Amino acid sequence: MVIQEHVLLKDLTTMRVGGEARFFCCVENENDLIGIFQFIKKKKLPFFILGGGSNVIFSDDTFNGVVIKMEVGGTEYIDEGEKVFVSAGAGVVWDTFVEETVGRGLFGLENLSFIPGTVGASPVQNIGAFGVEVKDHIKSVIAFNTETQKFEVFSREMCVFGYRNSFFKTHAGRKYIVTRVTFVLSKKGSFNFSYEGLQQSLKEDGIIFPTFQDVRRIIIALRRKKLPDVESLGSTGSFFKNPIVLKTKYEVLLKRFPKMPHYLVKEGEVKIPAGWLIDNVCGLRGKKQGHVGTYEHQALVIVNYGSASAKDIKNFAKKIIECVKDKTGIVLEEEVRYADEQNA
Ligand code: EPU
Repeated sequence: MVIQEHVLLKDLTTMRVGGEARFFCCVENENDLIGIFQFIKKKKLPFFILGGGSNVIFSDDTFNGVVIKMEVGGTEYIDEGEKVFVSAGAGVVWDTFVEETVGRGLFGLENLSFIPGTVGASPVQNIGAFGVEVKDHIKSVIAFNTETQKFEVFSREMCVFGYRNSFFKTHAGRKYIVTRVTFVLSKKGSFNFSYEGLQQSLKEDGIIFPTFQDVRRIIIALRRKKLPDVESLGSTGSFFKNPIVLKTKYEVLLKRFPKMPHYLVKEGEVKIPAGWLIDNVCGLRGKKQGHVGTYEHQALVIVNYGSASAKDIKNFAKKIIECVKDKTGIVLEEEVRYADEQNA
């Protein structure tokens, strides 16, 4: 393992903003992790764990610590009759992994096709799309405890998954680094078409009995339609979480905004699409401010049209939060993580 110095971070993230890391290293296995933590402890440095960089906004200033890029690889399949347990390294590219499981005809992850990022970030963020969350298919997670420098196994319950949330995002969970994830997939099952756009796409394509490849193709097409291609435009997918509000509050808002969509979360609580609020309440879809803006096809996505800085992005996000708050009283929460030494 090589520890590099003064490494520019912007090209390691999909938003393409950020200054440099004082120290940087790639971790390919568990021993590398133990090694870099000896260095971190000796020098008393803050650290930041980077996966695919698809949900991170690095500050424009130098990160005076160690940025660790997780590249632990490998996948292993254990056949258990109808179920298959699949263990994957944190550094495995998420969509390569999904493509592999879909190619083997295993039910579970197909609706999560084409999400940028890595396997290691998937439980931290509890990634989700088209009616599926990764927590539905996680059996356990192995994580490195940076204080004791030991590896620990977390069952699904211990991960305390929530909407785009988990134990690993809490104060107590921040000391853990995910190294491997075991998923539980099925040889027999059915596809999840609960998201209405999916049924619509199947109908349009005239598909009655979809195959794994049909489902993956449709999901990829839907994502391409709504979200910018991170290869050509800087973005982090959804910038904000969809807010969850009391049903009583929603009903009051509905009188002012009769077309406002919602999804029932649990008795008395509803989720409102933040993209709808930014678009229809604030009129900010496709709006630009310098090199920053909201995506023309999905207002929930903030894009870097060129040489925007982290500060520009943060200010633009603040403007959106203020507008939604002024007009609805709802305070949007960022889905992305701002990375600087205070947040490390
Ligand atoms: N809408 C608008 N205008 C917009 C955007 C959305 O009116 O600019 C409306 C849509 O017409 C629809 C509703 O808002 O009625 C919801 O939009 P959409 O189906 O696109 O989903 P979303 O709630 O905006 C969530 C996830 C996405 C995921 C999609 C599909 C969050 C924060 N985002 O978006 O996840 O791909 O559902 O399942 O939960 C991500 O997390 O990075 C991400 C892309």
